[in-house]
Amino acid sequence: RLDPTGRPVSADAAAFDPFGPAYLEDPAGALRWAREKEPVFYSPELGYWVVTRYEDVKAVFRDNVTFSPSIALEKITPFSDEANAVLKAHGYAMNRTLVNEDEPAHMLRRRALQEPFTPEQLAHHEELVRRLVREHVDRFIDAGKVDLVSEMLFEVPLTVALHFLGVPEEDMATLRRYSVAHTVNTWGRPSPEEQVAVAEAVGKFWQYSGEVLEKMRRDPSGPGWMPYGIRKQPQMPDVITDSYLHSMMMAGIVAAHETTALATTNALRLLLENRGQWEEICADPSLIPAAVEECLRFSGPIVAWRRIATADTEIGGVPIPKGAKLLIVQASANHDERQFDDPDALDIRRDTAGGHLSFGYGSHQCLGKHLARMEMQIMLQEFTTRLPHMRLVPDQEFTYLPNTSFRGPEHLWVQWDPEQNPERTDP
Ligand code: HEM
Repeated sequence: RLDPTGRPVSADAAAFDPFGPAYLEDPAGALRWAREKEPVFYSPELGYWVVTRYEDVKAVFRDNVTFSPSIALEKITPFSDEANAVLKAHGYAMNRTLVNEDEPAHMLRRRALQEPFTPEQLAHHEELVRRLVREHVDRFIDAGKVDLVSEMLFEVPLTVALHFLGVPEEDMATLRRYSVAHTVNTWGRPSPEEQVAVAEAVGKFWQYSGEVLEKMRRDPSGPGWMPYGIRKQPQMPDVITDSYLHSMMMAGIVAAHETTALATTNALRLLLENRGQWEEICADPSLIPAAVEECLRFSGPIVAWRRIATADTEIGGVPIPKGAKLLIVQASANHDERQFDDPDALDIRRDTAGGHLSFGYGSHQCLGKHLARMEMQIMLQEFTTRLPHMRLVPDQEFTYLPNTSFRGPEHLWVQWDPEQNPERTDP
């Protein structure tokens, strides 16, 4: 087999399966061979060039003109005609938001809309996050055993996301129902039957997002990032378009929700697996911000992102033709031994952890990173204070949604002796 430049595809490259268990379990480990032998390779299975080393991944992120993000939210598995017809029937028209917009529109829009993401503005959300986290912990603190994902880690970031966007309380339940289908729709490999069901949910999600947006338009005076955009639209209608607002209403939920939920799940699992470091942060909560950063490096929720080459170019010396689609694997970059010493060891005192690429890099770097960090830190503060003695339920099997980009276990079972809760022993 030949790659699109006419060079033979290696056996390892041909065998790479981004939907298979090895990659889902441990994306960085599954690409160790590539970082060593073939850091940029063509995957015939995907039809993408896969970029695996830290320097190369960062270089691709940095140059968003040669490597356009326009395909970032494209369906990685094309839908059947039947599924497409379902989407069409719902008027589905997801288009450019920020993450997949080219310059110069992207920067104009980003600058116009970034204020609500500043740490000063985000401070307003801290109280809500803390209250939500406490209420959820209250519900299960005496139970002794719980799946943290279904009892809390899924729910809290979703509620925060909906508040951040400004969704009215009465619409939250419906949006909640539909939002999950988006990940499979965009980054998964659904079977033809699943595609129709996914299309149905995504179509409804799209329609309902539009309805919520219309409601906000009737009274855009409320709090939240979407009303903020609606208020700014009249001053710059060519930058903040109707299509942008509708697409972001849907994409924003996913950007803020699943990422943060999976990031916190991964972080708790990692810290509990590295008991010594868990005990360190329980004893000294000032280590929590550094622990969050190291967990984002070690096990970020977004393992790979996408770009498309707008010109003939090269990456790490490998010729890349115009039109080539790229899968840039942050999880692999974050475990590149050329960048991080002993990369497969968790070390909350690692002073280079902040160089991770889990939030991307350059002009598209995650706008919500401070919000995500705040949520993760608050959740860890509450757990280390209220349930320092919790442990992972032994021998549990972790399962993942098969997809190229979003990663975190679907369940995280923990257990503890409620008699030993600090609130009981030292009220
Ligand atoms: C963009 C990761 C949480 C909003 C991105 C990108 C990544 C990412 C990889 C693309 C960066 C690039 O192309 O260089 C994450 C992770 C999160 C997280 C790992 C949680 C741990 C959030 C939250 C929000 C958010 C809570 C809040 C709404 C955005 C937006 C963009 C973005 C608006 C587009 C920025 C642009 O293109 O200019 N994020 N994200 N993210 N993220 Fe996040």
